[in-house]
Amino acid sequence: MNTFIVDGLAGKPSLEGTVAVEGAKNAVLPIMAAALLVEGETVLSNVPDIADVHSMSSLLEGLGAYASYGKEGSCSIRTNDVRETILNEDIAKRLRASVLLVGATLARLGSVTFPHPGGCVLGSRPIDLFLDGFKTLGCEISEHNDMYTIRAPQEGIAGGSIFFRVPSVTATETFMIAGVRAQAPITLLNCAMEPEVVALADFLVECGARIEGAGTPTIIIHPSHVEPPKNPFAIIPDRIETGSFLILGALLGKRIEITNTNPSHLGAVIESLRVMGVEVKEEGTTLVVSRPEILQPVDIRTHEYPGFPTDLQAPMSILLTQASGESSVLETVFDGRLNYVDELVRMGAHIQVWNPHKATFHGPTPLKARDIDGPDIRAGLAFLLAATVAEGQSRIGNAGLIDRGYSRIEEKLTGLGVSIKRT
Ligand code: EPZ
Repeated sequence: MNTFIVDGLAGKPSLEGTVAVEGAKNAVLPIMAAALLVEGETVLSNVPDIADVHSMSSLLEGLGAYASYGKEGSCSIRTNDVRETILNEDIAKRLRASVLLVGATLARLGSVTFPHPGGCVLGSRPIDLFLDGFKTLGCEISEHNDMYTIRAPQEGIAGGSIFFRVPSVTATETFMIAGVRAQAPITLLNCAMEPEVVALADFLVECGARIEGAGTPTIIIHPSHVEPPKNPFAIIPDRIETGSFLILGALLGKRIEITNTNPSHLGAVIESLRVMGVEVKEEGTTLVVSRPEILQPVDIRTHEYPGFPTDLQAPMSILLTQASGESSVLETVFDGRLNYVDELVRMGAHIQVWNPHKATFHGPTPLKARDIDGPDIRAGLAFLLAATVAEGQSRIGNAGLIDRGYSRIEEKLTGLGVSIKRT
């Protein structure tokens, strides 16, 4: 994979300019999968130009659907000829979100074969909630050569009630999709409440589905006839991309404007920044942020929405290394999401890792340039932030991982005054 070369600012808050946020990766992926439920052409707008969207398109095409991209972030998905039930193993192994196609294919064609979904190495990524859930709905599951096959009952997926042992974003989304074409209502309990779950429900309702409670812990899906939405469906702004640029502004901003955002999706992040002394001004869909004189320490505890998003834990940690005092991070969602800390320590940060979930930060510490590879999308972005703060020139490898979740990241950073090149 290619590499980013970054000339650090040695902590000087000199970044200024405007950056427009794109459509949410974690909203467009489930909605692309849900398009399989309807026969005909689904048109989406504000679709981000990122690698994961292209991987999802390839998976859809492997099933017989056809995805094409128009101007300005529009995407059309035609599903008249869907007949294949086996997910492309190579792509599905690299994309955790491929699991979203399981519910859609099963609901549309009555069976699906797929590998254990891959994706970021955030620790164990089990799929027990999916397998147990489909068993509850009367489906049969078999495993052969580490591929799973799920078969729905002859008469279709049964109704029923599923209590998620832990709130899971893609499990909530998968059963919402499958429930639209089940034989009876499905009740989901202890659901994820992320804005991307609500956006998927909004899309399905546009298609004619009847869904109650999206955004709350209890969701009821009533089987209904669904058709492609009448008008292009707009993908919500990416709150994780927004948060990533808010943190950059808090680190090194003279004055950074972030446009096309939805501030209401970032309560926990904006509140944590405020506690650190970072003033975030909200002007409609624009957020304005700059680096304060002193950054106060803060304790971050990641939590399902509306808590602090686990996807911004690594980027936020860079800010904690520059805060005056002792901060802490408690990562409660994944068991392998502090794996980037060692590299930060090599850059000069003072961080103690107590266990796979808890770390303490002592700041501020100047950071030194390093050559490092990001282990996942968000830690890769965090290393770009660290390299921008540092003194000297860093090489951040695995640029392709960052491209999975951020489109044209080097253009956007250059537009704000960062010196970054892609080799
Ligand atoms: C979604 O992943 C996001 N991906 C992730 O974003 C995000 O980090 C995560 O939600 C948490 O917010 C997409 O939406 C495509 P989970 P998901 O199921 O659904 C456990 C990014 O960088 N679990 O909500 O896979 C799991 O191990 C990515 O954009 C089970 O135990 O995450 C974790 O501890 C990274 N069994 C917890 O639930 C299961 O069957 C929450 O994970 C499924 C999950």
